[in-house]
Amino acid sequence: MEGKGELAVVIMAAGKGTRLKSQRPKVLHEIGGKPLLAHVIAAASKIVAPADIFVVIGHQAEKVRAAVAATGVGFVEQTEQLGTGHAIQCARDAIQGYENILVLSGDVPLIRPDTIEQLWDFHQAEQAAMTILTAAPEDPTGYGRIVRKKSLWPDIIPAEVEAIVEQKALTAEQQKIGEINSGIYAFRTAPLLAHLGSLDANNANREVILTDLAGLLQAAGERVAAIQAAEAIEVLGANTIAELVVLDATLRMKTANRLMAAGVTIFRPETCVIDAEVEIAADTVIEPFVQLLGRTRIGANCLIRSYTVIENCTLADGVLVRQSCVLTESTVGAGAKIGPFAHLRPASEIGEDAHVGNFVETKKAKLGKGAKANHLSYIGDAEVGERSNIGAGTITCNYDGVNKHKTRIGMDAFIGSDSTLVAPVEVGDGAYVGAGSCITKNVPADSLAVSRAPQVVREGWATARRALQKKK
Ligand code: UD1
Ligand code: CA
Repeated sequence: MEGKGELAVVIMAAGKGTRLKSQRPKVLHEIGGKPLLAHVIAAASKIVAPADIFVVIGHQAEKVRAAVAATGVGFVEQTEQLGTGHAIQCARDAIQGYENILVLSGDVPLIRPDTIEQLWDFHQAEQAAMTILTAAPEDPTGYGRIVRKKSLWPDIIPAEVEAIVEQKALTAEQQKIGEINSGIYAFRTAPLLAHLGSLDANNANREVILTDLAGLLQAAGERVAAIQAAEAIEVLGANTIAELVVLDATLRMKTANRLMAAGVTIFRPETCVIDAEVEIAADTVIEPFVQLLGRTRIGANCLIRSYTVIENCTLADGVLVRQSCVLTESTVGAGAKIGPFAHLRPASEIGEDAHVGNFVETKKAKLGKGAKANHLSYIGDAEVGERSNIGAGTITCNYDGVNKHKTRIGMDAFIGSDSTLVAPVEVGDGAYVGAGSCITKNVPADSLAVSRAPQVVREGWATARRALQKKK
């Protein structure tokens, strides 16, 4: 077999995730707004090129493949999920020709590239056939335990491992072992391939498990080593929803800490939901219970008040978003004021110093610099020029039941309250629309359009009516 390179990474991601009790495959469950598997691939990509990463897929394979295919990694199919050892058996062809492989678990998402590097360095220094990344979490229950070799010197923990014992196979004495298997390993490919075929399901798990290889290799005279990760949280797995939520909170707190270190104030960060890729400039303040999702970018000196949810938006400097706003796939210019209770739907472009007030909804709408829509409006498929004022209750009627049409309002225009603008329609620069109008024809620049029933007044009518009612 021709040599492919020094190192490949295999990520095991074929399992069903029975303990999650979910229709969705485990590795596609999300933390920090991204699937577990995507986190693991991102870490692996810092170690080797995507072409040297192989993901073992099986349960709902096509869904998993589609979710991460864009990363450029390779895939190996494990049609029947007979255990983690069987997963690596299925990757045999892919790994042949590499001198070493790193095995990562698709459900251990917080692993840092630095820690993988440490494992890799230690593996090489130890010249081991198998090197296990271990940890000492507060509660080791459920994890495979590391049985280190007996030391001749009681004070020294030997680097060598005798076996990994799965939870189901633990003796009473072994229950006390605090060091766990992270499910992350380095292997020299030659001894791995030489012994991989000897694994069987003859164990307490009744599965072909990779952990059995530690004992097997050791018994065959190969060196099996272990290195403990400094922080257990990094290697914790997500087998249940409760565990997923802990990992999610950990990751989000890391994001919040990164932003705070860069000068962003986040009050009560534990109540905020901030995705990993969000960027915020210094001196911006985020109030409690705010969600910032996807690729949201927020400038400096902004204030995002409580209960606001912002997804895939770009906000310039000095923007104020008051309480309980929903902003999606939109941009907001410097100094603009949004909310409270405003809804910016996709493709809204709010200009510099513009105001979008309470109960205003925008969609595919461009508001020019200094334009204002302060109360109770719907502005969809529309352009509003600079400094124009949209009165309370103005509605752009953009939809005729079949097609969407555009409303264009020029600069310095004034749309009186409770007007409806039936698109397609244009209101020219500096034009006025009288309150309560239903505008169906273009309004030329600097003109006034009023379109409402003339007012009728009957003096004394009410008095006469009351008198009539009294008589009855
Ligand atoms: C595994 C280890 C355990 C370790 C723990 C760390 C085994 C037998 N046990 O247990 O020692 O402490 O991880 O988190 O390996 N998978 C496949 N194909 C299969 C089965 C599993 O690809 O046939 C994948 C899963 O999708 C998952 C990973 O392998 O991403 C680990 O499998 P899982 O069932 O979660 O193992 P644990 O019980 O957590
Ligand atoms: Ca697991």
